[in-house]
Amino acid sequence: MIKATNMTKVFNANKQNEIIVLKGIDLEITEGEFCTIVGKSGSGKTTLLKCLSGLETITTGEIVMNKKNMVGLNKKEVNAFRRSDISFVFQEYNLIDDLTLHENIYLEHPTSEEIESLIDEWDIRKAIHLFPEQCSGGQQQKAAILRALSKKAKILFCDEPTGALDGKSSKEVLSVLQRLQKSHRTTIVLITHNDQITHISSRVVTIHDGKKIKDEQNSRVEIVENLEW
Ligand SMILES: Nc1ncnc2c1ncn2[C@@H]1O[C@H](COP(=O)(O)OP(=O)(O)OP(=O)(O)O)[C@@H](O)[C@H]1O
Ligand SMILES: [Mg+2]
Repeated sequence: MIKATNMTKVFNANKQNEIIVLKGIDLEITEGEFCTIVGKSGSGKTTLLKCLSGLETITTGEIVMNKKNMVGLNKKEVNAFRRSDISFVFQEYNLIDDLTLHENIYLEHPTSEEIESLIDEWDIRKAIHLFPEQCSGGQQQKAAILRALSKKAKILFCDEPTGALDGKSSKEVLSVLQRLQKSHRTTIVLITHNDQITHISSRVVTIHDGKKIKDEQNSRVEIVENLEW
């Protein structure tokens, strides 16, 4: 589904502040997989996710997505592809400041019963007509996840989607992701600092200093409800 070969990413190339963030990563994500990405802060996880999803261009290497070589596409073509197939949950939420949570969630897609019931289940109904800055980090994070889910994309990239959530809320969110992966075969690539979350994924990739140092299948995938939090 997504195959990256010898991918590198350099910021500020040939300048004094040049930084080589990704140093030749090979990674193949298969359809329906739930892959977690772990690694120390600053190791390049967010950059990796943005490159895999087409949000950032890569410096060298190749990314083939659904048999399409992303490197050869122009910006418009990449955007068209991203719009139809890919959803991204940002580490910093990226909600639009002057829109309410409700308007952010349904920015590009029509209201749906599914999302409306998650607004209740995840207990953010009371904040739904507030602006992001009037909301807690957790409320904003839930809205950012719902905005991504409203798209019903085939591939969901999540950058620490439960970073601002307590244990109970984390389980509620993760259980929806696990359900999507099982019932719709949604492909999920998720960055986490939480070991528990790796237990619900089918594969764990470890990034260290811009390189992939481990890539392990998990033969004993836990269901979210069994996680201890
Ligand atoms: N747009 C950018 N311009 C310059 N440097 C960048 C840019 N984006 C990321 N970096 C650098 O790349 C390195 C990796 O950053 P990245 O955000 O990918 O790490 P991370 O593994 O996601 O960390 P964390 O766990 O803290 O979120 C950092 O040194 C960062 O400063
Ligand atoms: Mg990050």
